[in-house]
Amino acid sequence: MSAERKPSPDDILREEFNRWAEAGRGEEMERHHLDITEKTIRLMELRPGERVLDLGCGAGWATRLLARLVSDGPEGFGQVVGLDVSDEMIRRARAASRDFDNIMYVWGSAQQIPWEENFFDKVLSVESFYYYPDQERALAELFRVMAPHGRLFILINLYKDNPYSLRWVDELQVPVHALSEAEYVEMLKRNAFQQVEARRIPDDTPTPDNYSGKWFKNAQELREFKRIGALLLMATKPDVRVAAPGYQIY
Ligand SMILES: C[S@@+](CC[C@H](N)C(=O)[O-])C[C@H]1O[C@@H](n2cnc3c(N)ncnc32)[C@H](O)[C@@H]1O
Repeated sequence: MSAERKPSPDDILREEFNRWAEAGRGEEMERHHLDITEKTIRLMELRPGERVLDLGCGAGWATRLLARLVSDGPEGFGQVVGLDVSDEMIRRARAASRDFDNIMYVWGSAQQIPWEENFFDKVLSVESFYYYPDQERALAELFRVMAPHGRLFILINLYKDNPYSLRWVDELQVPVHALSEAEYVEMLKRNAFQQVEARRIPDDTPTPDNYSGKWFKNAQELREFKRIGALLLMATKPDVRVAAPGYQIY
């Protein structure tokens, strides 16, 4: 008699986001996240030749924006790795990126990033971090795979200081872990990151008066949510080629 394995937190995320992917929500998110993502990408100051990780890349629209900015330059062949826990998102991202020779999409988890140490010059993660079952572990993994002086950009719309975003917590079909700006800053510092900064990125897209979506009560509330903006966390890996203190191999 074979005992059924209990699904892990990553299995649960995979199943849910595979459903999102099949419903076309991976591509749809471009419309919702483009404004705040473009503002973040400008702050990343990407240069041709850099190696970038798009963590929780979904259908890969942001991965492609990044790939255009880092492709060949005097410092070498710039490449982007898109990583996602949903294999269906990865399939769709690959299918939509066939024209790119500097993107690789990988199915895997932020909890155990399947990549070598000291590699990425920049990391972007859009609207993904609060799903990670163990955010401290994800930061330790990022520290490991980032190059010395590498810079991390975590962009999240769901965090404690934007009260309108917290209403999603009960609506989403998977557990989410919403922290405040101060708690995230503290967590990044605790995980040995330096030059830790937080900023708000407002969404300047127009809101139609006849808003009728399910996430907000009315257009006014959506406007307020966008005005408060997303939380952008930025941090740098110091000049070391070792894992963060306390790092454990899974
Ligand atoms: C709200 S979507 C955002 C996707 C994309 N960044 C965008 O803005 O369109 C969250 C993404 O994070 C991914 N994700 C959730 N938990 C993850 C984990 N533990 N490791 C890697 N990816 C994860 C999901 O599969 C999903 O594609």
